[in-house]
Amino acid sequence: MRSSHIFTALIAIAIPSFTLLAQDKVRLTPDNIDEVVASMTLREKATIVVGGGYGSMLAGVFGGDYQAPGAAGMTRGIERLGIPAIVLSDGPAGVRIEPERKGKENKGKTFYCTGFPIGSMLACTWNTALVEEVGAAIGDEALEYGVDVMLAPGMNLHRNPLCGRNFEYFSEDPVLSGKIAAAYVNGVQSKGVGACVKHFAANNQESNRFMNDSQVDTLVLRKLYLKNFEIAIKESNPWTVMASYNRLNGIHTQMDPWLLTTVLRDEWGYEGLVMTDWVAKRDTDKQVAAGDDLMEPGTKSQINELVRAVKKGEMDERYLDISAKRVLELVVKTPTYKGYETSGAPDLEAHAKVARTAAEEGMVLLRNVDALPLRPNCRVALFGMASYSILPGGTGSGHVHRPYVVDLADGLKLSGHYVDESLAEAYLDHLKKHPAKNTLMTRMFGAPAAPEMSVSRAMVEASVAESDLAVLTIGRQAGEGGDRKLEDDFLLTDDEQKLISDISDLYHAVGKKVVVVLNIGGVIETASWKDKVDAILLAWQPGQEGGNAIADALSGFVNPCGKLAMSFPVNYFDLPSSANYPYDYHGPNTMVDIKRLPEKPKSTIDYTVYKEGMDVGYRYYLHSDVEPSYPFGYGLSYTSLEQTEPQFSADGLRATVTVKNVGDVPGKEVVMIMAPYLRGFAKTALLQPGESQTLTVECAE
Ligand code: BGC
Repeated sequence: MRSSHIFTALIAIAIPSFTLLAQDKVRLTPDNIDEVVASMTLREKATIVVGGGYGSMLAGVFGGDYQAPGAAGMTRGIERLGIPAIVLSDGPAGVRIEPERKGKENKGKTFYCTGFPIGSMLACTWNTALVEEVGAAIGDEALEYGVDVMLAPGMNLHRNPLCGRNFEYFSEDPVLSGKIAAAYVNGVQSKGVGACVKHFAANNQESNRFMNDSQVDTLVLRKLYLKNFEIAIKESNPWTVMASYNRLNGIHTQMDPWLLTTVLRDEWGYEGLVMTDWVAKRDTDKQVAAGDDLMEPGTKSQINELVRAVKKGEMDERYLDISAKRVLELVVKTPTYKGYETSGAPDLEAHAKVARTAAEEGMVLLRNVDALPLRPNCRVALFGMASYSILPGGTGSGHVHRPYVVDLADGLKLSGHYVDESLAEAYLDHLKKHPAKNTLMTRMFGAPAAPEMSVSRAMVEASVAESDLAVLTIGRQAGEGGDRKLEDDFLLTDDEQKLISDISDLYHAVGKKVVVVLNIGGVIETASWKDKVDAILLAWQPGQEGGNAIADALSGFVNPCGKLAMSFPVNYFDLPSSANYPYDYHGPNTMVDIKRLPEKPKSTIDYTVYKEGMDVGYRYYLHSDVEPSYPFGYGLSYTSLEQTEPQFSADGLRATVTVKNVGDVPGKEVVMIMAPYLRGFAKTALLQPGESQTLTVECAE
């Protein structure tokens, strides 16, 4: 009896410690995620759903041992369970990491990333195969530099042209936006690196972006602002989704179970991970309970908050289990988990070619009255700061540390043209006097544009005899954290208007042509001045190969084939959304405690009513008497391309169109099925004169 008692007691002591030992042996594999979660302590689960802090983002500047210094964020690892920390990096136009790394092993090495054209320009290609190639090149750089998830693409709808982040986003139309996003995601993920569609959802302004409440009718929300995400999710299954900063109909999207669970997961069947945008702290337990799985960038106090919430019974632990599981499901897919050996040397030359092609296809020829293409060896009077200091992309998290940037002046010279030297000298002198600021912020997020140089009528006059034509580049910069202003941004400055008039008067007086190049990230006013000039090339912010791509298009080495992914209004106030959009907000983006909302909330700052409903972009012009300056879908070519009427399949889900090049030079055309809104699109191959191609377009219901 006695000995059996002792035996039982021994077993009782032995079992727990045996279990502990067995648990210690659990190492994360793709097949044992449930077991790993079950073996995690409460604190470990809380740890795994909270990001690793700002360390990696700041490491490029302050140092520190990180896998990819400069990357926006990380997760936390748990060594005893074999869970590594993974790396998340911005951003839409290329990988945003620091170009140099500290440490002996990195001596002499650089980690520059290709600067691709901005999102709006990618959308203007209407070429999903090409956008997929861009995504694949970005994915490859991420892979070789040690990044597991790209925080891209940005895909909020262009509700209003003044949104400071429209350049990162694609279009005013949800079908185009969704399909371009899907192509981007498919490209990135083809390299075994994750993508992240952001910012979910209705994040359509930057003014007071942490607190602003987007008040949107549910039907409008579903048909416009969620529709593009739905398409991207269903057609590309991104590994991750980023919830936005703003509130939506009263509740922060990061804490909204309807948005993050009911719609995203229950209705759309999304099984990936949701992370927060980069806000360190906000009711963390509510975020987890709503369906956020990863709090970025993450603080230790958030871990404590979660542990406390569960212990106090304020949050059901099962929410933590679910999110921890999703984090692990993400981790096991990543190169870091798989032990991928990075080369640190992606093929930047090959990727530069992709960037150049994407820029060439996204350029939109808005006007051409016998001015373009340039004849060979043209003498060009080149005006505008941006001609000598091109804006390759926007600022903020969408900034990229590119190895080089080709200016238009250089691009033209490389294409065999001549650039007026005294003008060039004056502009380069001005540039020297106004060097880009070199601060911590500009190093991390890019610098604003150099101030424009004022050009007297006499200077213009002096250039006329020496030149065959004038090219003026108008530049605009924007970036996250602020919206664009109406004055001197959407509208041209008085100096720009005067310069256009002076150049046009003086060049036209002697029968010489005037071309305007738009090096912009978002829509600007064109109606007041477009008739004064002979040609307008919308070159967007075209990435590091910009100068080459613009010169190719101006010279006719490539035939412009981009089409507008957004409308250009005549007047800003023609747009219904302008009644509810901040166009002159200069206040800060405050991160106030949500429990202390202002007593008298201000329209367009504290909340924004989407009163225009469905009347966004071309949807408004379709049924009103108001005309845009340039409509959605618009874009000229150096050749003429004819399309047949679409033939629909019996179920209406497929349309067939034949395109024929009836002009003199090779060109591409986009087929858009509008019924009455965009239902599908496709782009032809490069068609030789006389050649035709039949396209079948899938049409969304
Ligand atoms: C931006 C995100 C970005 C994140 C990390 C945030 O401010 O809104 O788009 O991914 O920072 O850099």
